[in-house]
Amino acid sequence: MKKILIIGGGAMGSAFSIPCLENKNQVIITEPYNKTFIKNLASKNKFHSSLKIGLPNKLKFKRYSKNIFKNKFDLIVIALSLAGVDFIGKELKDLKIKTPLLVLTKGLKYDKKKNKLLTISHLLKKNYNASNVSVLKGPCLAKELAKKNKTSVVIASNNIRIAKWIGNLISTKYYLTEYSKDIIGVEICSAIKNIYAMIIGSGQNLNTSSGLFQKSMIEMKYLVKYFKGDEATVLGLSGIGDLYVSAAGGRNSKMGDYLGKGFTFSYAKKKFMPKDTVEGEQLAREIAPYILKKINKKKIPLMYHLLKTIIHNKKI
Ligand SMILES: NC(=O)c1ccc[n+]([C@@H]2O[C@H](COP(=O)([O-])OP(=O)(O)OC[C@H]3O[C@@H](n4cnc5c(N)ncnc54)[C@H](O)[C@@H]3O)[C@@H](O)[C@H]2O)c1
Repeated sequence: MKKILIIGGGAMGSAFSIPCLENKNQVIITEPYNKTFIKNLASKNKFHSSLKIGLPNKLKFKRYSKNIFKNKFDLIVIALSLAGVDFIGKELKDLKIKTPLLVLTKGLKYDKKKNKLLTISHLLKKNYNASNVSVLKGPCLAKELAKKNKTSVVIASNNIRIAKWIGNLISTKYYLTEYSKDIIGVEICSAIKNIYAMIIGSGQNLNTSSGLFQKSMIEMKYLVKYFKGDEATVLGLSGIGDLYVSAAGGRNSKMGDYLGKGFTFSYAKKKFMPKDTVEGEQLAREIAPYILKKINKKKIPLMYHLLKTIIHNKKI
């Protein structure tokens, strides 16, 4: 039995606790930010308002404070959205935490000073001195994992031994883990698929969307290679696997559909999806200053066009 701390009690962090508990680990979840999730997790039946299920009794909830790190954990899981990564990186650095980290968060960060795009593992290592970072990505709708539907994910780490050690801790009959050394490729794919899901969603019919799907794969391959990942990763769970689930249904492809119908992003967001987080939009704003300046437009025409559509609030 190992001790696992999950930071982030949103849909994914909470769903992730289920296979961890099933594998007889002791699991503590904490939520630093969202009052609704704190209320859900602190309640007696732990009914989660996003997942619409009661979480297992064995899941322990602790209010977030620096004191939580006084306990010794075998693994710390980061399940916050991208906006929370700098916050938790700073906390872990200040407290000199050296526990192995597993990042579930998907996204990329733009380092303005250095004019560089950083993956989350790179950011945690370079800016916050984290030394032992693995990432877990792939096609996983939190609600489906919470129902124990069969789900396959990939754990990537520079040290494959650690990736496999984590896999052994968390995998179950319904939560299957693969492994990869291509941490860059896995992180790039799992971030940009949100933008390509919007592009595919804009198609308005299956023929058009399928054509956009195929062109998206070509652009994803180009981008993974550009950032020095392994092109083959695009055909893995974090690439085509995650692109499929995001394009088939989800908030990014839904927004893409509105864009394809001729609405601007701001109008569609306000009118049809006022309460939804559209991760592809957040990522588009984050990476646009880098991508639009540094990468040849002819190599990634779809990405280029979508970034411009979002940042200038234009019709597609
Ligand atoms: N790796 C996987 O298998 C997998 C699967 C699904 C989702 N995800 C990723 O997990 C992350 C969380 O997704 P979710 O579905 O749980 O979202 P959610 O909206 O249900 O939860 C978001 C979490 O981030 C926190 N947060 C939001 N803004 C914050 C801020 N400014 N500062 C600190 N914390 C903040 C919230 O409090 C909450 O804990 C996303 O990056 C998503 O892409 C990963």
